[in-house]
Amino acid sequence: MNKPTVIAGIIALFSLTLNAQSKAHLDKKKPIEERILLLMKEMTLEEKIGQMNQYNGFWDVTGPAPQGGSSQLKYEHLRKGWVGSMLSVRGVKQVRAVQKIAVEETRLGIPLIIGFDVIHGYKTLSPIPLAEAASWDLEAIRKSAAIAADEASASGINWTFAPCVDISQDARWGRVMEGAGEDPYLGSKIAVARVKGFQGENLGANNTIAACAKHFAAYGFAESGRDYNTVDISNSKLYNTVLPPFKAASDAGARTMMNSFNLLNGVPATGNSFLQREILKGKWQFKGFVVSDWASIREMINHGFAKDGAEASLKAVTAGSDMDMESYLYVAELAKLVNEKKVDVALIDNAVHRILRVKFELGLFDDPYRYCDEKREKAVIGSKQNHEGVLDMAKKSIVLLKNENNLLPLKKNGQKIALIGALAADKNSPLGSWRIASDDNTAVSVLEGMQQYKGNQLVYEKGTGLTIGKTTFKDELVFNTTDTSGFEAAKNVAKNADVVIMVLGEHGFQSGEGRSRTNLDLPGNQQQLLEEIYKVNKNIVLVLNNGRPLALPWAEQNIPAIVEAWHLGSQTGNAVAQVLYGDYNPSGKLPMSFPRSVGQVPVYYNNYSTGRPVNTDTNVFWSHYTDSEKTPLYPFGYGLSYTTFKYANLKLNKTSFAKGEAVKVSVEVTNTGNYDGKEVVQLYIRDVTGSLARPVKELKGFELTELKKEQSKTINFTLTEAELGYYDNNGTFIIEPGQFKIFAGTNSNEVLEAEFELKQ
Ligand code: NOJ
Repeated sequence: MNKPTVIAGIIALFSLTLNAQSKAHLDKKKPIEERILLLMKEMTLEEKIGQMNQYNGFWDVTGPAPQGGSSQLKYEHLRKGWVGSMLSVRGVKQVRAVQKIAVEETRLGIPLIIGFDVIHGYKTLSPIPLAEAASWDLEAIRKSAAIAADEASASGINWTFAPCVDISQDARWGRVMEGAGEDPYLGSKIAVARVKGFQGENLGANNTIAACAKHFAAYGFAESGRDYNTVDISNSKLYNTVLPPFKAASDAGARTMMNSFNLLNGVPATGNSFLQREILKGKWQFKGFVVSDWASIREMINHGFAKDGAEASLKAVTAGSDMDMESYLYVAELAKLVNEKKVDVALIDNAVHRILRVKFELGLFDDPYRYCDEKREKAVIGSKQNHEGVLDMAKKSIVLLKNENNLLPLKKNGQKIALIGALAADKNSPLGSWRIASDDNTAVSVLEGMQQYKGNQLVYEKGTGLTIGKTTFKDELVFNTTDTSGFEAAKNVAKNADVVIMVLGEHGFQSGEGRSRTNLDLPGNQQQLLEEIYKVNKNIVLVLNNGRPLALPWAEQNIPAIVEAWHLGSQTGNAVAQVLYGDYNPSGKLPMSFPRSVGQVPVYYNNYSTGRPVNTDTNVFWSHYTDSEKTPLYPFGYGLSYTTFKYANLKLNKTSFAKGEAVKVSVEVTNTGNYDGKEVVQLYIRDVTGSLARPVKELKGFELTELKKEQSKTINFTLTEAELGYYDNNGTFIIEPGQFKIFAGTNSNEVLEAEFELKQ
């Protein structure tokens, strides 16, 4: 045998031995925990750190490999097995191409986990999350997440960066559109529904994906509503408001969490051991892994919390950030830190164990291409069934804010209808923010939806516009116009109409990440247009499009009918038209208080009583504003129906309870109007006196119920210690004896009241 042949023989024998060892983890019959350890035994330190490294999609993987710059570096790392995950790669062809490199070209062939921001649907878009929250329909929300998972998984994706479970009380913050609003109880229920929707019963099925509760934690409390800003909140707010939805998501089995950009008590969340180690992985026993937010490890240098990349990596890994999204730091720094004994390898092992566990659970080791089925991709994405699903969700998300003299529903025949507003014909804006995979201009516009109803005469005029400019981010910047040249034409059609429908509000890209606002009014000159049209025809139905609460006191005072239609996704126009024409009776309720003006923000229902809550002797020294009422324009939980509901007989089974005893509450609800309808019956409590002051009201139960005309139902609730207790300032859950108030009603403001005592 010549020399090269001998060497080739040795190499072949060596890799065979290696393969023989390294394949043991592929044995499906072994328990996952054992498979993880078997695999980890084979891994070098660099390969382990590779699992903790996540890169954004970097080149058209079906084309030639990149030749220069950071793409080339990523490509090289991928081939070395130094990349554990990629994000924003999508489509079976692209995913298969990167997966093939990970599986077939690296030493151990560990598959990638492919992450993506599937925030409200994938290609077929459901309403923005805040809108879905307005449905208070947990089953519908679960289904909507399941549709999103179905489409995303058919496109090669196996992990979504959702649900966003950030509670926020600040409408200026653009990302309120991504969450479930201001309330931790509703927020927790919705968090669970979304986790279940994405992950299904079986994470190993090929139509379910891993969920990621984000942003851990307190990101929704960015000071002054400015995105990425510092957070400075009390312990009570942290424990009672911010953390419960994360805990609920963790308990529901969310496989991952994403940390956040903000400081909390001076410590960036990404480098925060208290949050990630003590609470999440300690107290809550969270078994999944934590991914950093985009470059948030590196951003700790800007925060002034780390002097360089090495220190940032050290602090992040020590604090429990398991995966580095796009900071390029773990891959560059961790091995050195371990070798210098600054980072204990046990920390690396723990992170890798967590990451591999999710990959095993997803079934990626059994078949790395299981999400790469072109046939399924074609059949599932954009299917009729999915469009029907998001239409159903869209109708359920609409909130009727005002309906004077029953202007709505519209008559179906013989009417002249003027439809006004640039957003009425827009096919892009209704898709909302965060819609990376969907195609531009694919929403059914309100105009198109209205055109389905042929019995009336419909005339459209834009009136005024929002000027859209493209940026390099394939995103859109919205500039607000002052051009009034379209006003006259709009007034002319309005003058001759029986009813005017005006679709006004924010463009889809005026909310979302990085889109904070200091005003909560109608952007551009839309308010001016509204007032001009009102001069010629008062019969106006205002259809709002927005990704956050708006402050519209003039409209509330003057416009007879107002419909909150958010950004409802692909089927927007059909949903709006069906509601306006009464083919669907709206039942949505606001998940966030709507202020009278931006100066009131933060305004939220579960606030605390001041020492001077009401004015008893008409003096100035009580908690109020001199230029505005202090109440919100529309309170939390508010929303009307085409029918009316009457509440009566709020009852408790007793008036005094021993600790641990279940408190049974019932209330009678009657449909007193002319339509069948649905109502969200809401139950609030107040812990009247405690060792810490408690909010004036806290949602502790709700039920979405359907009532035929004249039908009455008794709705029952049970309150246990979980609902009656709260977290003290050390994070301990306590239940204190004393007086409790109970409120039941149609929103947080209009309620019946009862009382009971909790004995020691
Ligand atoms: C930054 C955002 O804060 C986060 O929510 C998102 O998942 C990542 N970017 C990835 O796109």
